[in-house]
Amino acid sequence: MEIFVSGTYQQMSVQAAEDLINLMQASQNKLLCIASGDTPSGMYKEIVAKVEKGALDISDWNFVGLDEWVGMNGQDEGSCRYHLDKQFFYPLQINPEKICFFNGRAADLEKECAATGDFIKQRGGTTAAILGIGSNGHIGMNEPGTSILLHSHVAEIATETQAVGQKYFTTPQRLSHGITVGIADLMEAKHVLLLASGSKKAAIIKKVLEEEISEALPATVLRRHAGFKIYLDAEAAKEAQPS
Ligand code: F6R
Repeated sequence: MEIFVSGTYQQMSVQAAEDLINLMQASQNKLLCIASGDTPSGMYKEIVAKVEKGALDISDWNFVGLDEWVGMNGQDEGSCRYHLDKQFFYPLQINPEKICFFNGRAADLEKECAATGDFIKQRGGTTAAILGIGSNGHIGMNEPGTSILLHSHVAEIATETQAVGQKYFTTPQRLSHGITVGIADLMEAKHVLLLASGSKKAAIIKKVLEEEISEALPATVLRRHAGFKIYLDAEAAKEAQPS
C-alpha cells in the first residue's frame, strides 16, 4: 500500500490523474472501473482537460461503472451514471460501446451483475479502479460488513449513506438499495486508487489505515492488495498523521 498526501484537493486530483494515466497507458488492456461521487471530480476534470488539449488519447480505454442506485439509470438526474456522463463520458465523447454501466432500472438486476462480470472478463480484467469512500467506510456500495468474496451484487444501503446520498439530488430520493461491483472484483483489479478529501473523511481514513483488516470495514481488506494507493488531502489525512 502506498499513501500520497497533498496539501490541497487540487494537488491530490492532479497527482491521482497523472498516476492513473500512467498506469492505464502502460497496460495492454485498458479497463477503468470508475466511481461517481464528489471526490474524484477534480481528477476527472484533469483528464478531460488533457484530452481536450490534445495531450492525451484515451480512445482505447474501456469503462465499467462502479455502482448505481437501484431504480435509477443515466436518465435520472443525480444518478451515478448521470454525474459521470456530465463530467466525463459526454465531454470526452466516449463511445457507449466502451462503457458497461449498471442499469438500476432494469427488471433483472442479476443480469446486470452478470453483464458487468462478463464485460470485465472479456476485456482482460480491470486495469485500475477509482474509489471514493463514505464517512461510514463504504466503498462503491459495499457497506461495512459486506462479504469480501462478493463480485457484483445488489446491496442494501446503510441509513447513514441514504441520508448523505441525498446531496447528489435536488429532491428527496429513496436510496434503499444499490447495485455495485464487489470487493472481490476490486481485489482482482491490477491497481486500486482510493481518494479522500476533507475533514469529514479524516476519522474513517484513520480507521482504514490503522484498524485490523476485517469485513467490518471492507476498505481495510484493500491493504492486502499490492497495487493499492490512497490519495489524501491534508484535511482527510489529519487524524491519521503522527502528531
Ligand atoms: C460513488 C461511490 C461511493 C462514493 C462515496 C464517497 O460511485 O461509489 O462509494 O465514492 O460515497 O462519496 P463522495 O465522493 O461524494 O464523498
